[in-house]
Formats: sequence, structure tokens, C-alpha cells
Amino acid sequence: MNPPHDLTWIRAAALDEIDDDGAIAASCAGIPVCLVRTADQVYALIDRCSHENVPLSAGEVEDGTIECYLHGSRFALATGAVLGPPAVKDVQTFAVRTEAGDVYVGIPRTATG
Ligand code: FES
Repeated sequence: MNPPHDLTWIRAAALDEIDDDGAIAASCAGIPVCLVRTADQVYALIDRCSHENVPLSAGEVEDGTIECYLHGSRFALATGAVLGPPAVKDVQTFAVRTEAGDVYVGIPRTATG
């Protein structure tokens, strides 16, 4: 993950737009981001399965993972690590912070230009 000074913080959503153990799609500087809320944290991953490029935000959240709806690959919310086939590549994750009821995603400056 990039150090904080290399990030551009972009408001992605209001916290209450995301259900507990739910996922929504957001766009941050043109990058598709999947926001996931669990009981104690919000996570941000690239909203593209590494298998066939479908949105992870359409998947199911369970036990700190999100399962791709299309073929069932599972990814760790905290690290983006692939935990089950058919996907074999991890997915990118982003830093998240919440402030005054809003969710901000830290996009690497190299991605925002
Ligand atoms: S597209 Fe996600 S597992 Fe196949």
C-alpha cells in the first residue's frame, strides 16, 4: 500500500449508503471501487474480479471476504488476496478513512495524474 502522502483522498460515498456486510460500487477519479462495510470497518478494493473483469461489488460478503458472483472466487477484504479459484491473481486494495459520516478512498497519485 502507498504511504499516506502519496494518496489523493476522494469522497466515495456516505457511510450509511453501505449496509452491514454489504458492498456498493463507487467511482474514484475514474477508478471503479468496491466499498464493503463490515461490523467494524470499511474496505475498498478495485471493483473488478481478476478472473473475468466483472464487478466484485455484485458479490457476497462473508467472514472478511467477498465472493465473485460469476464463478465464486473469493478475495480477502483486507488484502485483496485471492483465496479460491478460478481466479489466480490478487486484486488491488485501497486505503479507506471515514470522517463525519463519509467514506474517503486513498487513490495513489500515480493513478490520478
Ligand atoms: S469472473 Fe470472478 S470468478 Fe470468474
